[in-house]
Amino acid sequence: MASNRKNLRLAILISGGGTNLQAILDRCAAGLLPAKVVVVAADRPDAYGLTRARRAGVPSHVVDYSRYLSGAMDSRISPELEVLAESLDSRQRILRESDRPKRLRRLVRLLLAENEMIRVIESGQPDYLCLAGFMRLVTPHFLAHFHGARPWRVLNIHPALLPAFPGRRGYEDTFDYGCKWGGVTVHFVDEGEDTGPILAQAVYPIWPDEDLEAVRSRGLELEYELYSQCIRWLWDERVEVRRREDGRWFTVIHDPSYPRILKEWVDRAMSSASGS
Ligand code: GAR
Repeated sequence: MASNRKNLRLAILISGGGTNLQAILDRCAAGLLPAKVVVVAADRPDAYGLTRARRAGVPSHVVDYSRYLSGAMDSRISPELEVLAESLDSRQRILRESDRPKRLRRLVRLLLAENEMIRVIESGQPDYLCLAGFMRLVTPHFLAHFHGARPWRVLNIHPALLPAFPGRRGYEDTFDYGCKWGGVTVHFVDEGEDTGPILAQAVYPIWPDEDLEAVRSRGLELEYELYSQCIRWLWDERVEVRRREDGRWFTVIHDPSYPRILKEWVDRAMSSASGS
């Protein structure tokens, strides 16, 4: 369908190793994904994914959040930013300091970091922004920027079957709880922590005597498949975001192959595990 349509332009945000980034780059290079990674950015200079981006010839940038948050960039604070921080304070869920002036100072710094990140991302003029192991929540200011012209442009991959185990430790929490099935989720990003409308999920079995690393590696293989498939559905314009009467947003995938694709994921996850 629509084979003459342009590739989707993707900006990818990372914080670490970037194997999800690599999987997307590889599928694009092999012609398996109608997408082009136009910019990669990390919130820390030691993210190995930056090297992956450079190797693939993709512009890569560091926006060092810890320098902003420590106050090293305070000279760039403007009165407008302070007003913005005041107006966002009741909606943001990232900073929890009880001391309000202290919290506002930190929020201003976070907004400075986000403004630089926004500039970097926009340099690639992406259609979608994909968080791929980006270990930070974003503020309503950041989201409003990307949702201004067209909503639901920011995606995230999460290593658990949401709404179970949100946060930074999806595999650890799944494993520690003693789950018999693990899962991975791609969702649109909203103002909450891993609460946005789910695009797709895949599950995998966790066999007795398996350790956390076995679980993580099985989950990651599924992450690579799931993220690429979601990007393909977006390119194909098969993703509809609807609002229920109670106000909650959810998605519908209009693809007759949907049950077959789900079955393939489950079959693959089952066969990659011995179960004995
Ligand atoms: C992935 O498992 C991803 O789902 C997870 O971080 C890992 C990044 O791996 N993301 C989160 O936990 C977000 N809360 P990668 O850098 O090798 O792609």
